[in-house]
Amino acid sequence: MGKSFDIGLERLTGTGVPRIGETQDGGVKPPLHNAGRQEAGATLVASFEEKNRTLKGAGCGTHDSEGSTFYLETFGCQMNDHDSEKVAGLLLARGYRQVDGPEAAKVILYNTCSIREKAAQKVFSRLGELRPADEQDGKSFNTEDTEREHRVHRDGRVLEKNHPSQRKIVNAGGGKIIGVLGCVAQQEGEGIFERAPWVSLVCGSASYRKLPQLIAELEAGNRRVTGLDTDTDETFETEITRRDNPWRAYLTIIEGCDKACSYCVVPFTRGPERSRASASILEEVRRLAEAGYSEVQLLGQTVNSYADPSARKMRFSELLAVVAEVRGIRRVRFTTSHPRDFGKDIVEAIEAHPTICDHVHLPVQSGSTAVLRAMARTYSREEYLEKIGLMKAVRRPISITTDIIVGFPGETEKDFEETLTLLDEVQYDSVFAFKYSPRPNTPSLKMADAIPEEEKGRRLAILMDRQREIQRVRNERTVGETFEVLVDGKSRRENQWSGHTSSNRVLNFTSPEQELLGDYVQVKVVSAMPNSLVGEMVGRIGVNR
Ligand code: 5AD
Ligand code: SF4
Repeated sequence: MGKSFDIGLERLTGTGVPRIGETQDGGVKPPLHNAGRQEAGATLVASFEEKNRTLKGAGCGTHDSEGSTFYLETFGCQMNDHDSEKVAGLLLARGYRQVDGPEAAKVILYNTCSIREKAAQKVFSRLGELRPADEQDGKSFNTEDTEREHRVHRDGRVLEKNHPSQRKIVNAGGGKIIGVLGCVAQQEGEGIFERAPWVSLVCGSASYRKLPQLIAELEAGNRRVTGLDTDTDETFETEITRRDNPWRAYLTIIEGCDKACSYCVVPFTRGPERSRASASILEEVRRLAEAGYSEVQLLGQTVNSYADPSARKMRFSELLAVVAEVRGIRRVRFTTSHPRDFGKDIVEAIEAHPTICDHVHLPVQSGSTAVLRAMARTYSREEYLEKIGLMKAVRRPISITTDIIVGFPGETEKDFEETLTLLDEVQYDSVFAFKYSPRPNTPSLKMADAIPEEEKGRRLAILMDRQREIQRVRNERTVGETFEVLVDGKSRRENQWSGHTSSNRVLNFTSPEQELLGDYVQVKVVSAMPNSLVGEMVGRIGVNR
């Protein structure tokens, strides 16, 4: 975090509702899919370690790998971030020690993302850095990402990542175990062994519970192991999760996706939808609250398609309500919602429970019904706008954010114009925009009328300009208002703090107080930018440690 504060307030923040997506890829991430990892600052880490000690005490497994070390790097969405928390927890519980660089690690794991081509390429670029000396036979293997990448802190802060040319190239060998996890693992399967023979472990997200066993098999002399099932719900119940954020805890409530949007790999990489029993979710939320977490974020690729598999048959909106009532929980977030399953009951739950945050991420993808049809999104522009209307009709202001793809095959200038007018009509608080990226196995791969890259770039830039102006005006209007903020960042600059509002905006503020991290405070906005607000603390609400 120290690093993130060096880059000035505007770049520091994004909006918590993050920045207008400048997403080529590996660019700015939407809540659930794109790149970005937490780089916790010293203060944050200290508290998180305390909390994890508490959680570990709650009963972890055997310690049969005492002394072994692992390095785990995560690409992609919050779902991946959270999966990595579970993987780390699993390994720590078995006596592994986590190290912060691949050089010192016995086991090197990459938890990967394949949502767009660049994200997938990045993984192979990382693997190239690990190629052992005896594999360096002059074959070309891409180790250079040509574009400068930005990573976004999961809370919206933009961190510039080392350019590969500045990265230390680690030569694997030396008995290291190199594993590819996540969506690229699932998508490429054993093909990864062909492309990078120094990889010995390939494991998709549904098989993470098997990881210690798979690693043990490698340690026992097996050359290659895989875990590639996609339809188990084993991932939900992990014995221990090593949470990266001391205040906000992530919980996966539904895995996979049944929606089959024509451009998307997720149904292939994460398998069919499987929901977790409501009682198990509630039990975990209670435990989290007891351990001191005040904010929980319910995760799923289509979180609101949640279908309780237990006899209680709780609807998503009912689940939100009961989670919101757990003692000690002050904020409940959820992402990502699919418009098809977004109904009045969810809006009513938000109205009725101040603990449910006033923010909904509702990806639209395009403002043109013709394009939406080609994308197989299952709704028209008008139907989407009806859902937006539900949120605008209630008294509690609800912050709305979205994802948009520009340059889908066949998208005409007129279709694109319709996306721009949708921005004007909805008045989003933030937009994550992406250039369409053709993906393996997806129906849109074979669609006619591909849009040239240059044109996609032009449309992306126009869209971002339009949205930036909308955000500038919307944020301006908050000047003079007071928001409750959960303080989650401290600047090296004296008296400078930052936190998130319920609507997930990042608010940077001044306060002479010494200990604010993890507290809820009242902050009055004094100035605004398109991606962030600046304010001063006017009151303290409570300490939540
Ligand atoms: N190309 C570009 N963007 C994509 N997304 C998903 N698949 C693709 C693709 N093939 C975007 C969608 C989704 C977000 C997480 O990523 O906007 O909501
Ligand atoms: Fe992909 Fe569509 Fe499922 Fe979202 S809803 S994960 S875009 S298939």
